[in-house]
Amino acid sequence: MKSDENSGAFIFRNGRVLDPSREFDRVADVLVLDGRIAEVNAGLDLGSDISARVRAIDASGKWIVPGLIDMHVHLREPGEEYKETIASGTAAAVAGGFTGVACMPNTHPVNDCAAITQFILERAKYHGSCRVFPVAAISRNLEGNNLAEYGELRDAGAVAVSDDGRPVTNALLMRRALEYAQTFDLLVIAHSEDPSLSGGGLMNEGEVSTRLGLRGIPNAAEEVMIARDLLLAELTGGRLHIAHVSTAGSVELIRAAKARGLSVTAETAPHYFTLTDDLISGFDPVYKVNPPIRSSRDIAAIKQGLADGTLDVIASDHAPHSVVEKDLEFEFAANGMIGLESSLPLILELVREGVLSPLQAIAKMSSNPASILKIPFGTLRSGAPADITVIDPDVEYVLDVNRFRSKSRNCPFHGRPARGRAIMTLVGGEVAFSE
Ligand code: DOR
Repeated sequence: MKSDENSGAFIFRNGRVLDPSREFDRVADVLVLDGRIAEVNAGLDLGSDISARVRAIDASGKWIVPGLIDMHVHLREPGEEYKETIASGTAAAVAGGFTGVACMPNTHPVNDCAAITQFILERAKYHGSCRVFPVAAISRNLEGNNLAEYGELRDAGAVAVSDDGRPVTNALLMRRALEYAQTFDLLVIAHSEDPSLSGGGLMNEGEVSTRLGLRGIPNAAEEVMIARDLLLAELTGGRLHIAHVSTAGSVELIRAAKARGLSVTAETAPHYFTLTDDLISGFDPVYKVNPPIRSSRDIAAIKQGLADGTLDVIASDHAPHSVVEKDLEFEFAANGMIGLESSLPLILELVREGVLSPLQAIAKMSSNPASILKIPFGTLRSGAPADITVIDPDVEYVLDVNRFRSKSRNCPFHGRPARGRAIMTLVGGEVAFSE
């Protein structure tokens, strides 16, 4: 992270402070000193010494929340810097309200050894705008044959392992990953897809795919793998997190596993509760993503899963692609959508719909990902690093991809009327983004 002249001491006055780490939802003041949260309380009396050195910000009508954490992001560096870099991706992150992102290992080369993890952290230190938490590969080169060296990856700074972008098809390798990861207390993040069911598929299997004549990916392609991995988590006692949940059946499987007491967590992405597969009728590849956008029945189940806590986290699965891979016939276009700069307003839609309370919504973007990744953020407790997002929940605007910091433009929400966004993002007490 850059150190700059914006670092200092702040007092945010009269904001709605939402701190899910302690179920706190009240109008209060937040005092930041020396890069840490000093105190949160109503009507803080600072005394003349402190008053003289703090910058006072009137936050009335705004939300003050723990810095948002996106635990599923593709930063594309090393190797595909024309799509995104650690600099551009983290600039997009702070503009979207995120103070930390976990970055997936499907880079070139793959993040499957300490040197790459260290490289990512070095680049983030000097060129990043927010904290970066590298996710390393489950298997060497994401090939699904041999486990990577989890000990050295953990020592280098990896917070989890995942072959995201590809499933681990070999059940024994997944079993060993869940066992081996426990030695280093690493989370295993599953990309749940059975390629024998999804292979060749371009979109959700259903009425729309039949009408369009595009090969479909059935819900079962995801659910079969989730069922397998839940059984393996039970067998091994490993810490399993299911990435990008898209189907009603997946929500049901995870709900049942949690009821059995399994230590499993799960995430979904905004496109899985916002977009349905009928949007593909115009063959616009901006809607192509893996897993695919599904049906309204799935959306209803995802929302229910978010509301009842089956789905712990909302992560963007920010997957930048350039026009070279994306602006092609639907069949040939790459999978993925960018999300860092559109996530927050889409999640606020769920709050206005009454699906989530403000505290629940913020938990799924801060305290929950922090506790799942076991990182000391996602809280406004006194003494914690001053990672803070200030949100204007009411500002109305139109999402405009041309104003995004991301290098890529593959956003299906361009032109969508939105309400609410981050207006200030503080990382370790420094202003990383401000409107
Ligand atoms: O749509 C996707 N894009 N799904 C994935 O799992 C990987 C991602 C990417 O890396 O582009």
